[in-house]
Amino acid sequence: MSSGLANIPKTAPFSEEDVALLNRVVGPASAVQRAWLAGFLAGVESVSGQAQPVAQARPAEPLTIVYASESGNSEKLAGDVAKAARKNGLKPTIIDMADLDLPALASAKRLVVIAATWGEGEPPARAIRAYNELMGEGAPRLDGVEFGVLALGDTAYAEFCAIGKVIDERLAALGGKRIVDRVDCDLDFAEPAARWIGDAVKALAPPTGGGRVIEVDFGAKPAASASTDVVEAEIIEHVDLNSSRSDKETIHLALSFEGGAPAYEPGDSLDLYAENDPAYVDELLKLVGLSGDDKLRTEFIKSRDVTTLSLKTIDTYVEKTGHQYVKALLADGQAREWLAGRQLIDLIAEFPIALDAEKLRALTRPLAPRAYSIASSRREVADEAHLLISAVRYESHGRARKGVASNYVAERLKRGGRVRAKLKPNKHFALPAGDKDIIMVGPGTGVAPFRAFVQERRATQAKGRSWLFFGDRSFTHDFLYQLDWQDALKDGSLSRMDVAFSRDTPKKVYVQHKLWDRRADLVAWLDGGAYFYVCGDAKAMAKDVRAALVRAYADVKSLSPEAAEQAVVTLEREKRYLQDTY
Ligand SMILES: Cc1cc2nc3c(=O)[nH]c(=O)nc-3n(C[C@H](O)[C@H](O)[C@H](O)COP(=O)(O)OP(=O)(O)OC[C@H]3O[C@@H](n4cnc5c(N)ncnc54)[C@H](O)[C@@H]3O)c2cc1C
Ligand SMILES: Cc1cc2nc3c(=O)[nH]c(=O)nc-3n(C[C@H](O)[C@H](O)[C@H](O)COP(=O)(O)O)c2cc1C
Repeated sequence: MSSGLANIPKTAPFSEEDVALLNRVVGPASAVQRAWLAGFLAGVESVSGQAQPVAQARPAEPLTIVYASESGNSEKLAGDVAKAARKNGLKPTIIDMADLDLPALASAKRLVVIAATWGEGEPPARAIRAYNELMGEGAPRLDGVEFGVLALGDTAYAEFCAIGKVIDERLAALGGKRIVDRVDCDLDFAEPAARWIGDAVKALAPPTGGGRVIEVDFGAKPAASASTDVVEAEIIEHVDLNSSRSDKETIHLALSFEGGAPAYEPGDSLDLYAENDPAYVDELLKLVGLSGDDKLRTEFIKSRDVTTLSLKTIDTYVEKTGHQYVKALLADGQAREWLAGRQLIDLIAEFPIALDAEKLRALTRPLAPRAYSIASSRREVADEAHLLISAVRYESHGRARKGVASNYVAERLKRGGRVRAKLKPNKHFALPAGDKDIIMVGPGTGVAPFRAFVQERRATQAKGRSWLFFGDRSFTHDFLYQLDWQDALKDGSLSRMDVAFSRDTPKKVYVQHKLWDRRADLVAWLDGGAYFYVCGDAKAMAKDVRAALVRAYADVKSLSPEAAEQAVVTLEREKRYLQDTY
């Protein structure tokens, strides 16, 4: 380690001479010597002048913290566990489940797992390999490992916190000793998670008594985190990128931040704080007999999730109203099926009952912000951040439905208006060094981060090649950011582009078909060290793209399906196959 790291700063409360003297000793000291010194001084401090406790100091007990995360919440909480653990005499090691060496888990004495659920009850993409290994026959015994699991999820999904639940059961089945009960967190996880972390760390911490534990982690780097405070932005552009004849509406939203945009990097997202459709809230309040209460109306428009319907909502409805029919629905086990495609308003419309404000509040949770990939680079747009937002509209059970945030943007935000936003960094979807080639697969709004990538590469005059696969319904009506791509191809910041417009030909063509068509070049780029990025729809597209890549390897390199699968697994392990899907 370089001695410069341990230099005593000039600002230290010592004379210049003393600083020089100290530097002569501390500067070249080894990590062990510095740790000893830190322990010694801390010990001296604690017994007012008697330099003895150092001899009694015992090493902190190890704690392994594994997180399975896609959008960073579990990862952040893993950091919170580590902080709390250090204060409680534990020496934490944080491991991304993507990097987990499963056999090593058997030697962990204490284990915390924080796991999010994605897709429809699936593990976060990066964690799939380790998750499958954990569930597989080759998983190691975990006899004697003390563990606790914190599950992150969203009650709006049928498979609420499924991955955390399964991991919790699996660790116990492998012989682990559950030392703290699992907690399943909804989107407003901050409080329950903090409580669970406090309990878990207490339960896992070694008994106090004996010497004070002095844990000095010289390896820990201070987090160079960008501010993730909620900030207000002005809307300076609001443009529908689809033609008026498209059946879609995709808004290019340019936000301007007074005092500078949050320090985002290409690949990051912004959490947008939306408001509910006032017409929907009015209908809801009327149904429960609460219209006319303006204060309540404003509260529900601004801050309550009035659309989500989950099993938990139905439970609460029965608890608060005792409604017999809804009770029967639950008792018959039909509730889960019944709520598919329905919203809170359907429950109240079909099983009406008068509610007071408190009961209605209990049926809703806080309105959560929605994430949108940032479609610009600060190096090109300075104080702005651009987003690309597709209005979610559909019909179910005879009612026209509108996604809350996307329609707030499409229908109610206007140029000159303001909106609140918060940076959501994603260091797992970042650009590689400028000399590396990149392949970007982003149909629909999935193309947003790649506009940021291309802008960044232009601004930094990166030498690596870049290749974009884009797709949507129609060339004429849905070619998002068409002019930007043309310019980028002209100035060289984009080397190549392939497009798939599914409704322009009798047979539907998607990006995965284009990948297959270009498989020889694709595999050659990847063999040459290119990075492969996928963004957009998680349900079908991301899986189809991965499958197409496996088939491409098999065909181009004459590999068995297993060997081709292994080639893609290797890309994932090398973190050259990166996804940001939703
Ligand atoms: C990291 C990340 C980045 C993202 N980036 C972008 C982006 O760049 N651009 C973008 O537009 N979106 C992006 N999203 C998605 C975005 O966050 C929102 O989920 C999306 O805009 C919908 O939000 P909403 O509030 O309008 O809809 P909501 O009110 O949340 O409603 C959506 C829900 O409606 C239901 N639903 C939707 N369609 C149907 C249907 N056809 N039939 C039945 N039910 C249906 C589903 O339950 C769905 O979950 C991103 C998401 C993540 C996690
Ligand atoms: C596309 C998408 C799919 C999701 N699927 C589920 C799910 O099936 N079950 C669930 O409980 N939560 C689901 N969630 C909610 C996430 O688990 C939740 O947002 C969690 O806080 C994310 O944690 P992370 O940031 O560590 O990935 C989903 C979220 C998104 C955006």
